[in-house]
Amino acid sequence: MSEHEPIGVVGLGWVGLVTAACFAELGHRVVGREIEADKVEALRSGEMPFHEPGLAEMVARNAERLEFTTELEPLGSTRLVFICVGTPPTHSGDADLSAVFAAVEELAGDDSPALVMKSTVPVGTGRQIKARAPGAEYVSCPEFLREGSAVKDFLEPDRVVVGADPGDEAAAEQVAALYQPLGAPIVSTDTASAEMIKLASNAFLATKISFINEIANVCDEVGADVTEVARGMGLDDRIGPRFLQAGLGYGGSCFPKDVSALKVLAGNSGYHFQLLSSVIEVNELQKRRLLSKLTKHLGSLEGKRIALLGLAFKPDTDDMREASSLVLASRLEGEGASVSAYDPVAEEVASELLPTVSMTSSATEALDGADAAVLVTDWPEFGEIDWPDAARRMRTPVLVDGRNFLDPVALRSAGFTYEAIGRPSEGE
Ligand code: UGA
Repeated sequence: MSEHEPIGVVGLGWVGLVTAACFAELGHRVVGREIEADKVEALRSGEMPFHEPGLAEMVARNAERLEFTTELEPLGSTRLVFICVGTPPTHSGDADLSAVFAAVEELAGDDSPALVMKSTVPVGTGRQIKARAPGAEYVSCPEFLREGSAVKDFLEPDRVVVGADPGDEAAAEQVAALYQPLGAPIVSTDTASAEMIKLASNAFLATKISFINEIANVCDEVGADVTEVARGMGLDDRIGPRFLQAGLGYGGSCFPKDVSALKVLAGNSGYHFQLLSSVIEVNELQKRRLLSKLTKHLGSLEGKRIALLGLAFKPDTDDMREASSLVLASRLEGEGASVSAYDPVAEEVASELLPTVSMTSSATEALDGADAAVLVTDWPEFGEIDWPDAARRMRTPVLVDGRNFLDPVALRSAGFTYEAIGRPSEGE
């Protein structure tokens, strides 16, 4: 593929917009197509549809190479089109592929560009697409970027997976060549295996999180410290230190959806994926366990005010999908408590989802007069709070650290009753 031939991207959500911006950063011309006209208008004027560090600057820097459009026609001049549309779960837990199939139907034809699938799809989707559009070349190229560090993850990947079936090797080579400057290992494989690598990777990481959360729950019972346990485990190369942070469970648009999609995919094929049922159940229970830590110190929660620090499913994003805060706030209100909350960027998105929660514009305001606080998202700015001052402002200085983020010694010397997840309480 010549450098002058533009790359197409369909769907300008997290994956699509980051893909478009990063390929432009690598020197390619990119045509990004999005059906929501408002989004395209906003992008043309430099406004980002979501919070992602470094993305707005990258889009601005590469404005000359980036074209945003609602039309399909400009994609006709491209050689490769990356499909980056959403695949949300259906009621049955399967992935909803309607947006994927709509994009394929629009694009596939005799003279069509090769289709490169970045959306997370069930294993077998590539073969289904080839059956629907036999004339189009098809490559599976799953994305492994994380929200909040998406730009860095795209430009510094651990690996690039390129899956193609016989007949589509030329398109696969072109996709591999696009990523070659990034210097990462390229895994060239068939489409079904590429699709499985994506689902299995997310399911494995989610399993690691549920595993360490269960270890934390046992630590709570026996007086061990899960952060020490994770440190000791993580130094074993075979285990590795990452994704061993115990807390309120995983959220976001990917792990919950993909773990359930893999479980359902296995079930539909006649295999009961027992382990994943437990991973999901542990994660659901983890969001609720925190209540008992509050009642231990406050007794009944009826009439109490609880401050939530952070609402997004993780720091550096305003994404509230499957955020632990949603379950936690509803459970607290269900117990008769009122909830105040502060998040550095997710307030606007969160207000619609949590209309009865009183949103504040600073952590201090959320903590003022509260009976207890819960740290829900490990935003770096929560490490900078003046805790002795916060202890004085609160009605009772009780803090449950849902991400094991703060220093227990500093919090206790600031006057707090400090509880974490899987770490000994005071006096234990
Ligand atoms: C995840 C994967 O990490 C990416 O590789 C993948 O590309 C992406 O899904 C996707 O399929 O699109 P993301 O959902 O953005 O990325 O966020 P993560 O950083 O993986 O965090 C997911 C959740 O796990 C968060 O709620 C986080 O707080 C939680 N987590 C993470 C833990 O509770 N403990 C940990 O040790 C790590």
